Amino acid sequence: MSENTRKILVTSALPYANGPIHLGHLVEYIQTDIWVRFQKLRGHNCTYVCADDAHGTPIMLRAQNEGITPEALIERISGEHQADFAEFGIGFDNYHSTHSKENRDCASTIYTRLRDGGHIATRTITQAYDPEKEMFLPDRFIKGDCPKCGAEDQYGDSCEVCGATYSPTELKNAVSAISGATPVERDSEHHFFKLGDFEKMLREWHKAGHIQDGVAAKLKEWFESGLQDWDISRDAPYFGFEIPDAPGKYFYVWLDAPIGYMASFKNLCSKNSAYDFDSYWLPGGETELYHFIGKDIAYFHTLFWPAMLHGAGFRTPNAVYCHGFLTVDGKKMSKSRGTFIMARSYLDHLQPEYLRYYFAAKLSSGIDDIDLNLEDFQARVNSDLVGKVVNIASRCAGFIKKRFDGKLAETLGDEGLFNTCSRAGSEIAELYEAREFGHAMRQIMSLADLANQYIDEQKPWVIAKQEGSDAKLHEICSMGINLYRLLVTYLKPVLPQLAAGSEAFLNIDPLQWDHIKEPLLGHAINKFKPLMTRIDKDKIDAMLEDSKQNLPGGESEAPALSGPLADAPISDTINYDDFAKIDLRIARIVKAEHVEKADKLLQLTLDLGGEQRNVFAGIKSAYAPEDLEGKLTVMVANLAPRKMRFGLSEGMVLAAGPGGKDLFILTPDEGAELGMRVK
Ligand code: 2FM
Ligand code: ZN
Repeated sequence: MSENTRKILVTSALPYANGPIHLGHLVEYIQTDIWVRFQKLRGHNCTYVCADDAHGTPIMLRAQNEGITPEALIERISGEHQADFAEFGIGFDNYHSTHSKENRDCASTIYTRLRDGGHIATRTITQAYDPEKEMFLPDRFIKGDCPKCGAEDQYGDSCEVCGATYSPTELKNAVSAISGATPVERDSEHHFFKLGDFEKMLREWHKAGHIQDGVAAKLKEWFESGLQDWDISRDAPYFGFEIPDAPGKYFYVWLDAPIGYMASFKNLCSKNSAYDFDSYWLPGGETELYHFIGKDIAYFHTLFWPAMLHGAGFRTPNAVYCHGFLTVDGKKMSKSRGTFIMARSYLDHLQPEYLRYYFAAKLSSGIDDIDLNLEDFQARVNSDLVGKVVNIASRCAGFIKKRFDGKLAETLGDEGLFNTCSRAGSEIAELYEAREFGHAMRQIMSLADLANQYIDEQKPWVIAKQEGSDAKLHEICSMGINLYRLLVTYLKPVLPQLAAGSEAFLNIDPLQWDHIKEPLLGHAINKFKPLMTRIDKDKIDAMLEDSKQNLPGGESEAPALSGPLADAPISDTINYDDFAKIDLRIARIVKAEHVEKADKLLQLTLDLGGEQRNVFAGIKSAYAPEDLEGKLTVMVANLAPRKMRFGLSEGMVLAAGPGGKDLFILTPDEGAELGMRVK
């Protein structure tokens, strides 16, 4: 490594270990991954770490609901998260968990140092307590009627109808969202981090250019309203780390979450001796530290986190980079429209690099929301990547293979054009560095336009038919291949898979940014295979259809990472009246058929005794049609009919089980009558 090699540590926010990764999350991981890959491509020593955010009440309760330990739950979810990330090409150098020895050690060190420095206070507070469940209730786990507008079924901290914010004690007819019991008030001693002790340090840190302008404006408001002590403890039962000097008290999930960045790096150090923990985390070193996050969690990362680090004698970040939320077709992601899209539903239908490119084309260094417009997504990927970039190689490669034995010419058709495109690399690099990816993509596509224009003008397909023009044809096509190589280098941070395929086709070592200076001449290349195909609208439709069916249990509709002080409830409850409305009936499956082009669905004809219903059910993983015909099932008979891509679905069958092969819908025949109510 040269002396100009930077040592950079980069993180993305740690996803909660109680739900799947969705496209809102992916904005951030893709943004960070592009930046990290760019740094590596430039020859820097850049390290990208992350982890699952494994603590807190929602995770504890979800594990209880599933009848498993929190450890088993977080292990399973971590596996799912990592599989999704890997398929989207997110190249973490380490992926860990906040429920780890390293994190316990780091959290304990930071807390102890803060306490010894006089930055921890204790005092007794009164909170809502669930007498049935015998636990204190986070605000989000209390529901009741809004004290301002009277709207029913609102959370303990804010009303989704009128937007009012209040304390849970003000809520009318409050109930615990966990047990339904009426909460009582109870006292408990809590530990607080005295954020106000760091006001001067934070003001200076903010002035020193470590945060974006949009965030600085928000910080000004926070300073004006005064830096409050931060409650960092929670009472048992809680899934987290017990506070070293306070038995029965646990660190609040948000205390040890950012420490998870440090702990993941520490874990990497224990696996790879090339890394030195102190040089990345003690003040005064040459290394750089960057956090990529969603704007909703700026408060934690631009106030608490730098103050905690500083107070405990560690370095502070070089920058915290916030991004906006994701909307789909201009609206908040919605389960009913099918636009609340899980990473897995996307991967079942579409190639990850389409989305990486589209997000890159939309991203800037600012905090504005970005929109995934599905029509534009299809059009842009097809026209830019398939129609412009890959097309350059496919227009030239055949001639090189057939007419020149796969070997590129010794000279280029237009050196001036090559130099123009090569020199454009400096501006593109500046744009990547500044996280202006959308602008970078536009520059790269304008170079792709120049390359296509060159080929259009030179018309190799005409030259190929002219006698004695071999040398010219050779130079033109070699020029095209060389321009393609430049474009792929520029796109490599965004499209690592396309780049790997192109490196194999070009028969070259992995591309590095400075390779763009020299053309590839007199070099044998391999046979060209189409490296990317067009997006087919059917695939997008199928993904949306799947997204209507595969809803994550217990996730809020938050478009990206969940809100700042969120201990989001694991599931919305329905009251008895809602339950009573569900008309469950015994039905006979008179016909079961495969549905063309549907991976998961079977089409069932159900006889309710006098009436037949058509129902599409996502049970193909567990049953073949012949296993079902003639058997009985329980169906929801009063579900409003729903138009699906394959036809009208007039109800739903009840299924139990974890999914896959273990999905059970059949009911015993004995004593059952068609149309009989089952509750
Ligand atoms: O908002 C969230 O999804 C949190 N799990 C992010 C934590 S980031 C860091 F602080 F760990
Ligand atoms: Zn209200």
